[in-house]
Amino acid sequence: MNVLITKKIPQKGIDILELAGCKLTIYSENKPLPKDELVRLCTYQDALLSVGQNRLDSSFFEKCKHLKAISLMSVGYDNVDISAATTHGIPISNTPDVLSRATSDIAFLLMLAVSRDAFNMHKKIEKDNWGFFEPTANLGIELYGKTLGIFGLGRIGLELAQKAKAAYQMDIIYHNRTRNIEAEKQLHAKYVPFDQMLAQSDVISVHANLSSETKEVFNSNAFGKMKSSAIFINTARGGVHNENHLISAIENKTIWGAGLDVTNPEPMLKDNPLLNLPHVCVLPHIGSATAETRDKMAIIAAENIVAALKGEKMPQVINAEVYD
Ligand code: DGY
Repeated sequence: MNVLITKKIPQKGIDILELAGCKLTIYSENKPLPKDELVRLCTYQDALLSVGQNRLDSSFFEKCKHLKAISLMSVGYDNVDISAATTHGIPISNTPDVLSRATSDIAFLLMLAVSRDAFNMHKKIEKDNWGFFEPTANLGIELYGKTLGIFGLGRIGLELAQKAKAAYQMDIIYHNRTRNIEAEKQLHAKYVPFDQMLAQSDVISVHANLSSETKEVFNSNAFGKMKSSAIFINTARGGVHNENHLISAIENKTIWGAGLDVTNPEPMLKDNPLLNLPHVCVLPHIGSATAETRDKMAIIAAENIVAALKGEKMPQVINAEVYD
């Protein structure tokens, strides 16, 4: 069985595939895989293990309908036209759960870093501008007892809420398509309408999928309803916020600051104004980047492929209806 892997993945995933007798082609160039090249490389493959944001749209599925399965090494699948895959009977799987801790750690890190403007303080030292102790300078915001608003309270949001509660006794409010009863019981999280979450939160953290419903919901209108002391955190997808509106909201002091692990587009260019604004911390999409988590993601992604090639249901299939 031939399997194309679109980036080098941890050895644990490779071992599973090789042990199952798969013949692997690994695209190891240090640049994004162009769409035409992806289609060409898929020609003689039985399955695809897709790493990163390869756009698998309806034209891709038209050209690659021979694939028996596609395993994504990610939890997000906004880059894949799932209904086109289903039309062609191709099961798609992802790697949920295992990255919730690591990703919520990055949301927590950004929340704290923005509240104390940590990245800019570091830059000051690099510029030989340590300064002297100034009782009224470099003042941050304390998080203790503040309100954390979670947009999209699923597994990652729940992990962040638990950390925020344990560390800072934060009150948790959230907005979701459905109620999260576990969070309500465990953390006294309160479901609120979107506008109420905007108005009451001291920190808002985005953990929702990118979809037509969530695209750019954080725009000038939403930022305008937030507290001027509020911190905006996004570790989900850059498309959920409008980057220009976010820049204006911080420049105009509509909100206090922002912490981003995801941008729009990615990669962010080095002259992006956000990188020079106060109370802004940006990371290069490293939410799941720990050795432990990436190993687990590679194992799940490989196990999904092996199951599919054995003719079994992929354990983490997204479009289970292909098996009907
Ligand atoms: C995910 O798993 O969706 C991460 O954001 C990496 O793309």
